[in-house]
Amino acid sequence: MPARTYLIRTFGCQMNVHDSERAAGLLEAAGYRPASDPDNADLVLLNTCAVRENADNRLYGTLGHLKATKDARQAEGRDLMIAVGGCLAQKDGATIVERAPWVDVVVGTHNLGSLGGLLAEADSAALPVVELVEQLEVFPSALPAKRDVRHHAWVAIAVGCNNSCTFCIVPSLRGPERSRPFDEVVREVRELVADGVIEVTLLGQNVNSWGRDLYGRSRFADLLRAVGEVGGIERVRFTSPHPRDFTEDVLVAMAETPTVCEHLHLPLQSGSDRVLRRMRRSYRAARYLSLVERTRQLMPDAALTTDIIVGFPGETDEDFADTLRVVEAVGFDQAFTFQYSPRPGTPASDMADQVPPEVVADRYPRLEELVRRQSLAAHQRLVGRSLELLVEEPSKRDAGRVSARTRGNHLVHLPARDDAGPGAIVIATVLEAATNYAVAGPPSSVSRPADPPDDLHRPSLPVLAG
Ligand code: SF4
Ligand code: F3S
Repeated sequence: MPARTYLIRTFGCQMNVHDSERAAGLLEAAGYRPASDPDNADLVLLNTCAVRENADNRLYGTLGHLKATKDARQAEGRDLMIAVGGCLAQKDGATIVERAPWVDVVVGTHNLGSLGGLLAEADSAALPVVELVEQLEVFPSALPAKRDVRHHAWVAIAVGCNNSCTFCIVPSLRGPERSRPFDEVVREVRELVADGVIEVTLLGQNVNSWGRDLYGRSRFADLLRAVGEVGGIERVRFTSPHPRDFTEDVLVAMAETPTVCEHLHLPLQSGSDRVLRRMRRSYRAARYLSLVERTRQLMPDAALTTDIIVGFPGETDEDFADTLRVVEAVGFDQAFTFQYSPRPGTPASDMADQVPPEVVADRYPRLEELVRRQSLAAHQRLVGRSLELLVEEPSKRDAGRVSARTRGNHLVHLPARDDAGPGAIVIATVLEAATNYAVAGPPSSVSRPADPPDDLHRPSLPVLAG
């Protein structure tokens, strides 16, 4: 009998991408194989996010389409298993099988390791199986993984969050912060390198408070140095830090560890102190700006990216002007901007002074225009420079090109070269700048060969900022 095939659709942040890699590893350990034809997969796993606008409506829409496929399959005497995991599964639980009884398995964020057993149970009983637990059972990083690309790995160093930002649903879905021990993280990175990985991204909802629960204080700077010193690692990234917890020792560790990329993603959310207070983000604009200043003193070349919410409840024209002023003062390389929309279950969704949609619609494009200008300027600063680029994948627009990333995480398109496929590190000179990318000439040298050809590169899954 041919092996059953699976397809995973991932929504939400990098934590879900990381979990999807674990789900793929679990499925392959249970004998499933990736579906070469998505329309023919025997199992579809939706790894959901609760932050997306109308997340639940979209989920039930997708499940409606899958039901039609399942019915058609069953008419032919075959089946389609449907599993729902991720944050929306954790949030809605059994409601999912009440509204969509054709779903076979619902698994939460804390017990992903049970996926194989739950599928087997659903298979034999032909009944929906729902399993959610309140506490993390096994750290997802300890589960087997099937990574999407050979040269890059997500490494979860902590899950959950102890903060209570009033717009955020994550703490109630991922639980309190739990760090993985130092040695375990370093050991995983060593094993990844042995498996062909040259770039890791350390992941946590609040990455720079890592270790507080284990060691009584954050030891993120120590961890960054130790991971950066693992032989064979070329690039270390991390996401996302919280400006409140950002300490000087982390900046110094970044500056002193050559493999740690000079890129800081530092969520601003708002430039108004009044709004920050209502968001329960316990830093202020001046603190944010001084962190930026210190970053640039230590790493003059550092790329800075951020997340910003427009139209948080109670945001006035003056508050919004404060945000524009801070953005203007920083000059971001890239900013992920969001129009505030209330998330049920968060304190901000009950605030009385929601900003009317037409006011948000007026403010948002003004911020977007500013960040677009800043992104273009950031790419223009690269023009004429000979840079180290890590090739990621064939360009989506042009078959003769590949897409690569600078150490600052800027996207660069450049001519393809047979010996410089995904995973290769090349040196090339940037020739042109656009808002969302830069264009480089042919590589002048290749300092690290591409991933082995037997490692089929599957396209990246859609990722939204968390
Ligand atoms: Fe935690 Fe980030 Fe959510 Fe704040 S926004 S509660 S720091 S996950
Ligand atoms: Fe969960 Fe990430 Fe979305 S933690 S709610 S998948 S942004």
